[in-house]
Amino acid sequence: AVAARAGGVGTPYTTWILQQEMQENIDGELAVVLSSIGLACKQIASLVQRAGLAGMTGLAGEQNVQGEDQKKLDVISNDVFCNVLRQSGRTGVIASEEEDVPVAVEETYGGNYVVVFDPLDGSSNIDAAVSTGSIWGIYESDSSCIPDFGSDDSAKVEEKCVMNVCQPGSNLLCAGYCMYSSSTILVITIGQGVFGFTLDPTVGEFIMSHENIKVPDSGKIYSFNEGNYAMWSDGLKKYMDSLKTGGKDGGKPYSARYIGSLVGDFHRTILYGGIYGYPGDAKNPNGKLRLLYECAPMSMIAEQAGGKGSTGVARVLDIVPEKVHQRVPFFVGSKNEVAYLESFM
Ligand code: AHG
Ligand code: MN
Ligand code: MN
Ligand code: MN
Repeated sequence: AVAARAGGVGTPYTTWILQQEMQENIDGELAVVLSSIGLACKQIASLVQRAGLAGMTGLAGEQNVQGEDQKKLDVISNDVFCNVLRQSGRTGVIASEEEDVPVAVEETYGGNYVVVFDPLDGSSNIDAAVSTGSIWGIYESDSSCIPDFGSDDSAKVEEKCVMNVCQPGSNLLCAGYCMYSSSTILVITIGQGVFGFTLDPTVGEFIMSHENIKVPDSGKIYSFNEGNYAMWSDGLKKYMDSLKTGGKDGGKPYSARYIGSLVGDFHRTILYGGIYGYPGDAKNPNGKLRLLYECAPMSMIAEQAGGKGSTGVARVLDIVPEKVHQRVPFFVGSKNEVAYLESFM
């Protein structure tokens, strides 16, 4: 029998994880966390596909720490991720868009990894069944500040949890997202390239469909919410105007593509080329997207695929978060397109 080429297209996600462990790219504890995240994504994919049938559309009736009205599926997806990560027994601290503060996990039997995540990205799209996603990043816990439930009081535990999650994106061991769209696609990097796995619903397993994704160096697609144009800086307005006449090298004007879901807009951008941006503006100087569980993981993936992730003036992965839910202006995609934008900032 011909041995399947290690890690090639057609490899199941579970098998790929074991191959990474055998090649010592990850340890057994992290392999358990990656496998658990795959389970969470399958569970959320199933919930999203049935949202309209099982009364899971619409608002949950609560606001999150961001001041957003939570969708029912924001809350349910958050519970799925929290439960799966607790039950993995290898997660020490979790931080989520939908949790006010980082949560220390006591049921840790090994590993003690830190997982930051946006359980449902683009959730405003749910009621119209437009693409949504989940985004995550995984850090090693900072051994100097592992909460000691035996002796630390709750304030101390919380403080240690915040220290564990406020790490620069350059520390990420793993970043990934799952897009819930016409296909359910899990995209992941552990620092050695970017791999995409498409869910085969007849098997209930993610199967590798994209080996070593590379972002085209240029691409004439831009993905911005131009509704905010009036509040943008002069530099950004000049940049946006130039795209209408072909950008840096002139020629064909750029095309606009924006679905209001970072995961969907990002996935198209890394496959087709182009740039996604959520700039700061007069009303929100730091823009809307959160550094910890949106911009940093997506920037690691972009860089691993040969692209760039920038605030317009700095490399996203260099930024050390001060606050768990800190926002930054965000531009990501083809390296030439992000560099061209930076030249206007
Ligand atoms: P989330 O649903 O996790 O809060 O994220 C929504 C984000 C991002 O997914 C999307 O690109 C952006 O918000 C859309 O914002 P606008 O509706 O302001 O364009
Ligand atoms: Mn939200
Ligand atoms: Mn989001
Ligand atoms: Mn979200």
